[in-house]
Amino acid sequence: MGLRRIIKNYIYRKKFKIKDSEVSQKIEKQNILITGANSGLGLALTKKFLKFGNKIFATYNERNDNLIKLNNKNLTVFNCDQSKIENIEKFKDFISDKPINIIINNAGIWGGNRQNFNDIDYDNFNKAININAISIIKISETVLKYSKQGSLKSIINISSQYGSTEHNTSGHNYIYKGTKSLMNSFSKNLSIDLKNQHKVNVFSVCPGQVKTKMNPNGILEPDLAALKIINLLSFSEALNGKFVDLNKNILTW
Ligand SMILES: NC(=O)c1ccc[n+]([C@@H]2O[C@H](COP(=O)([O-])OP(=O)(O)OC[C@H]3O[C@@H](n4cnc5c(N)ncnc54)[C@H](OP(=O)(O)O)[C@@H]3O)[C@@H](O)[C@H]2O)c1
Repeated sequence: MGLRRIIKNYIYRKKFKIKDSEVSQKIEKQNILITGANSGLGLALTKKFLKFGNKIFATYNERNDNLIKLNNKNLTVFNCDQSKIENIEKFKDFISDKPINIIINNAGIWGGNRQNFNDIDYDNFNKAININAISIIKISETVLKYSKQGSLKSIINISSQYGSTEHNTSGHNYIYKGTKSLMNSFSKNLSIDLKNQHKVNVFSVCPGQVKTKMNPNGILEPDLAALKIINLLSFSEALNGKFVDLNKNILTW
């Protein structure tokens, strides 16, 4: 890695620095549903929330080995492939009558290599629409229907700056950009409906460039991004209906 790159990465990391002790209001004793929790950001969020004394309902798609290794009595793990919306009905078996307080819609896919104009994998596109976007509506509906009435307070949708239409200067990547843009649109819509009907705050977050399976060249450690996201929860009321970065800066839609 060249010197210029090293300096750029150092500045980027510094911009988002935070320690456990700095989380403004520790989120504790909450029941939290996290999707796509066996890897990357979802796993880091699971670990941090457990450390702060919360109960986690974690979903996984293909593997659950990393979650099982945590061996934590406050962790309930269940399988859900969100590429099929009807699978989300299965959530009710795990959350029925449990007071779910927070949902983190984290599961997501990049959408494969074929997503540029004239070479689009439309099967993957359909899958990604379900996983990255439509799921967040169905999960909200399911939790509000089956979880203990009145318990849900906040929903965070893990989006991406790639979902910003105004920020788009690079073209390409129709699947990822389009589905994250759709997620943002649904997030805004849910923020209006759920605030009015259920007093639930909903907002979208771009986690930045995080080093994970999806982005092996990412700059931020998942633990750090997770902590920043947890910190945002203390500001849910003010962030309702917004699209923000890890430092609460408003991003353009
Ligand atoms: N890393 C970044 O730089 C970055 C930047 C912006 C936004 N994000 C967003 O952050 C979120 C977390 O991604 P990550 O970076 O932590 O990557 P990751 O490690 O690949 O995590 C994505 C998770 O989504 C799950 N998933 C994939 N297909 C699924 C399906 N059909 N049903 C349910 N879950 C499914 C994966 O499970 P399996 O592996 O079992 O399929 C995995 O646990 C994503 O929404 C991503 O778009 C990441």
